[in-house]
Amino acid sequence: MEVSSNTPAVVTGGASGLGEATARAIAAKGAKVAIFDMNEEKGEAVAKDIGGIFCKVNVMSDEDVDAGFAKAREAHGQERILVNCAGIGNAIKTAKRDKQTGEISHFPMQAFEFVIQVNLIGTFRCIAKSAAGMMTLDPINEDGARGAIVNTASVAGEDGQIGQAAYSASKGGVIGMTLPIARDLMQEGIRVNTILPGIFNTPLMNAAPPQVKDALAASVPFPKRLGNPEEYARLAMTMIECGYFNGEDVRLDGAIRMAPR
Ligand SMILES: NC(=O)c1ccc[n+]([C@@H]2O[C@H](COP(=O)([O-])OP(=O)(O)OC[C@H]3O[C@@H](n4cnc5c(N)ncnc54)[C@H](O)[C@@H]3O)[C@@H](O)[C@H]2O)c1
Repeated sequence: MEVSSNTPAVVTGGASGLGEATARAIAAKGAKVAIFDMNEEKGEAVAKDIGGIFCKVNVMSDEDVDAGFAKAREAHGQERILVNCAGIGNAIKTAKRDKQTGEISHFPMQAFEFVIQVNLIGTFRCIAKSAAGMMTLDPINEDGARGAIVNTASVAGEDGQIGQAAYSASKGGVIGMTLPIARDLMQEGIRVNTILPGIFNTPLMNAAPPQVKDALAASVPFPKRLGNPEEYARLAMTMIECGYFNGEDVRLDGAIRMAPR
């Protein structure tokens, strides 16, 4: 599906990192981008820069997501593109013994549920509501294409590290639901694909000390560096534009396979 001038698009998590790079890449084609994010300041700034709009949306909230789509559709028309990048993580062991005190504790259930709510259910919420909207559109080519959806999982959905039980479960869920959703939507001409990023140079990673970032870069087989958000955006654009790309979970990781820690 060619991204042409004025194609309406929605990017969740578009205020920062991978989502921001993708919002910029889609807008560079002339498309009209609505950014769904909780970070109002950064989201407004990016939206202004790319000639799009910002919608303050917490993907955990049904009301927020409904209001976001209503605002985006009123401004730009029904979106044909949805990219899901909103996401969070935490690092807590399933159960652990404190080295000093010997005290035993376990992963707080609320913290587990929170990550699943944002990364997995939040992604599904946006997909379901966007797909229902795309189904009202006329097909735009002889294949019967109506729209394209790209999700963001993580290599941690396949090789999660110590402390990543919740994060890996949430991303594994995104990986697992990609094919059945593509099958659910096949008769409607809506394609669904998922990217599994390795380690990318985003504000999330910039918080790490330089020696940690250097060690992470050294652990990538080739190229020996973190991924650039623009490289993520390039794959997202291919998934959107290549009409035969459907139902795929694709690693984008410089061949890294994560070690236990
Ligand atoms: N950076 C990496 O190395 C990496 C690796 C694998 C996967 N990922 C995934 O890529 C996605 C983007 O990560 P990033 O590195 O660009 O992070 P980032 O923190 O730079 O951007 C994430 C954006 O999502 C927004 N967000 C968070 N929770 C939200 C919610 N409930 N509702 C709406 N918006 C919300 C944040 O405000 C932020 O703007 C995430 O899903 C992350 O898990 C990142």
